[in-house]
Amino acid sequence: MAKLAHMSVRSRYRMLFLTISILFVYFFAPRQDSSNFSISAASVIQWSAHLGRLPPSQNAGSNPTPMAPPNLLSQDPLESEFYSWRGPDYVPRPKPPYKPPSPLRSSPPIPDPFPLLSSNPPPKRSLLQAPKINRPPKTHYPEQTPLLIGFTRNWPQLLQCVVSYIAAGWPPEDIFVVENTGVMNSNKDGKLSLQNPFYLNHTQLDMLGVDVIITPTLLTFAQLQNFYAWTALEKDWETYFWSHQDLLVFSFEDEAFLPPATSSGTPNPEPNPEYAGSLYTRCVSTLRYLMNSLNLGQGGKKWASHFFAYDHLTLVNRDAILAVGGWDTHIPYYAGDCDMYNRLRWAGYGQGQTEVGFIFDVATVLEDVGVLLLRIRNNTPEGEVDWQTLVDLAQQMEDLKYTGGAGGDRNTWQMRQSGGRGEPFYRDPEGFETGLRMLIDTGRAVFAEKWGHRGCDIAQVGITAEDEWRLERDWDVQSEGFGWEGDLW
Ligand SMILES: *[C@@H]1O[C@H](CO)[C@@H](O)[C@H](O)[C@H]1NC(C)=O
Repeated sequence: MAKLAHMSVRSRYRMLFLTISILFVYFFAPRQDSSNFSISAASVIQWSAHLGRLPPSQNAGSNPTPMAPPNLLSQDPLESEFYSWRGPDYVPRPKPPYKPPSPLRSSPPIPDPFPLLSSNPPPKRSLLQAPKINRPPKTHYPEQTPLLIGFTRNWPQLLQCVVSYIAAGWPPEDIFVVENTGVMNSNKDGKLSLQNPFYLNHTQLDMLGVDVIITPTLLTFAQLQNFYAWTALEKDWETYFWSHQDLLVFSFEDEAFLPPATSSGTPNPEPNPEYAGSLYTRCVSTLRYLMNSLNLGQGGKKWASHFFAYDHLTLVNRDAILAVGGWDTHIPYYAGDCDMYNRLRWAGYGQGQTEVGFIFDVATVLEDVGVLLLRIRNNTPEGEVDWQTLVDLAQQMEDLKYTGGAGGDRNTWQMRQSGGRGEPFYRDPEGFETGLRMLIDTGRAVFAEKWGHRGCDIAQVGITAEDEWRLERDWDVQSEGFGWEGDLW
């Protein structure tokens, strides 16, 4: 934070200096001939006095005045001030030395996570469906059930997640991958390679029947959440589901269907025998229950979000999010959820949870994610893999993530691809990660300043919605550190 503050002071001085220089040039620079194109404040002012009277073009008129070529070579004093606002005696420091080489740069290339999709001829669409037990009904349930899955890095991880949702019964045409890579149309145009962390294959998602929405620029988590709500407005979705991309989900295939229990303890609607027990169907059933209780006032509380394994998979009531002003985009990543969910709670919205299936948070990818749909390895009858085996494997993958496997840190899966140098919108993978971590810290610091408290437990402390930005800090920066520090994060 000290660094940021320092930088902003510096840029403020730079602005001040620029402003003074512009005023100086305006008042003291000699009036210039309008045929001279050097951009100074004086000539800009002169131009504005003659708006609508453009200088004659070279071809027009009988006796055109040739214009002087723009002065491109020597640096305008204002431009050199931009790079350094120090005086002429300033001696720049020597270029810093290089950091030690990082292990990431030598990590092995990642394999194609779903080779069947690249086979020639391409696989039949019927092969790429959910196993029979989980298949969604031919006629869509009356409810709209869009599922938004945000993607920034790690294609194998995303593909595994998407395929597992299809395998768990989610209709592929209801799945919207929100490509939040910041590479604009580069992936759509096939310009990135598999080793690039931001690679995503539109063709393969299309083969699976899944849609892609491209964000106009790389959004933070909070911005992405607001973008979801915006998208829901545009598409007229009253509710939508969103999911993290690092999940591996399964239906409860071993259980007879029971309508989901709700956290409020209100009795559930009668089981509908036409439902299969897929994860998707249970989500629809939860949605139906929440909408009915809301609309019919059956003691139903107004609700904002409904969690399936905390917010790994979340059902959102769009208008509730909009009613409290959306996510605070000054808290770009972590702590943004604390801010949002507390504000919703203070506004009287319910946020329950339901178990609809197994939802594993993983950092590793199956050798061939196609096994989730086909339930078969190497295309041989002996290669058959049953549901229980897959669930056990996924459980091990989750354990690995939390016990520091798969590279040590809980989030290291995001950094496995390290190629793509020279491709459009290339970003250094480690630099990207470093910048992200700094934004995460800053977000926590903003949260701490906003509520006077470091940590998510602001409601327990007795803080209320009206207190935002009005409380003194409840910690001492000198002895306890910055807003993002402390052991409550
Ligand atoms: C995307 O997938 C298709 C089908 O597997 C493949 O032909 C194509 O080369 C892939 N595109 C890129 C840019 O890797």
